[in-house]
Amino acid sequence: MMPQVITDPRELHRALAGKSVALVPTMGALHAGHLSLVEQAKRCAQSVVVSIFVNPTQFGPGEDYDAYPRQMTDDLAALATLDTDFVFTPSVDTMYPGFPTPERVSIDPGPTAKILEGALRPGHFAGVSQIVAKLFNLTQPDFAIFGQKDAQQISLIRQMVHDLAFPIEIVEAPIVRDADGLALSSRNAYLSAEERGWALALSKALKVGAQISESPLAMAMATFARLDAPGVSPDYAAVVTRDSFQPRAIVTAQEASEFPRQSGSGGQVQSEECYLLVAGKVGRARLIDNTKVAI
Ligand code: PAF
Repeated sequence: MMPQVITDPRELHRALAGKSVALVPTMGALHAGHLSLVEQAKRCAQSVVVSIFVNPTQFGPGEDYDAYPRQMTDDLAALATLDTDFVFTPSVDTMYPGFPTPERVSIDPGPTAKILEGALRPGHFAGVSQIVAKLFNLTQPDFAIFGQKDAQQISLIRQMVHDLAFPIEIVEAPIVRDADGLALSSRNAYLSAEERGWALALSKALKVGAQISESPLAMAMATFARLDAPGVSPDYAAVVTRDSFQPRAIVTAQEASEFPRQSGSGGQVQSEECYLLVAGKVGRARLIDNTKVAI
């Protein structure tokens, strides 16, 4: 069945009254990864809302806001196959009255927003936090589902929910990959066939790096070395803790840094749950990927 498409927040509020709600925030151009988030949402609550909104404030100057794929008809057809209840597609004016005039009140996502993706895309996570907070307020979900692929994003959302006391459970859904290992992403649409082949360097680098157990720095260095492959312009390989996104090692073309553990001092050193992260550019697509490791 086709989802009910809602653009007006008051109508959304009426439609969701009295039911438990799971929200899947998206920017559209849906692929199987997004659909797995919807399936997860259906297991959490009575009503599922998928928001589709290409959020202008999370794109920096020169990024792909105008070119970002918009394919509402296909998205609705894909969501219909999962019997999604509601699609919330607000206008820019609804979410940012007066846009592009900056808002007076905004969320500062804190120090985690300044490293890695945040360092390369200044202001990106402030824009993500601002829109996600608004979507939470308009939807008032019991659960919100985000993909592990955007590990820094989900960590920041968890921190925002904790620090600003949103009564919402954040659910992390695993990365969905093509058979050859490429993590699904709306930006894969920018890749030519040749570039798609080069992009496999990201998942291959993660496989190589995840085998290294000597130290976070050794892991990140082995990963970066494999990422630095033909057709790929690598940004970083990094190891960060899963619970608080504390960096343990960051390797770029310019430097390789290791950071001390913040907890668990004394006694036998236990391994820690971390994300091994990679980022780089292939053609005009900026791609990220990660895997969970214990080190
Ligand atoms: O992950 C995304 O698609 C976006 O960053 C999100 C969470 C929908 C906010 O615009």
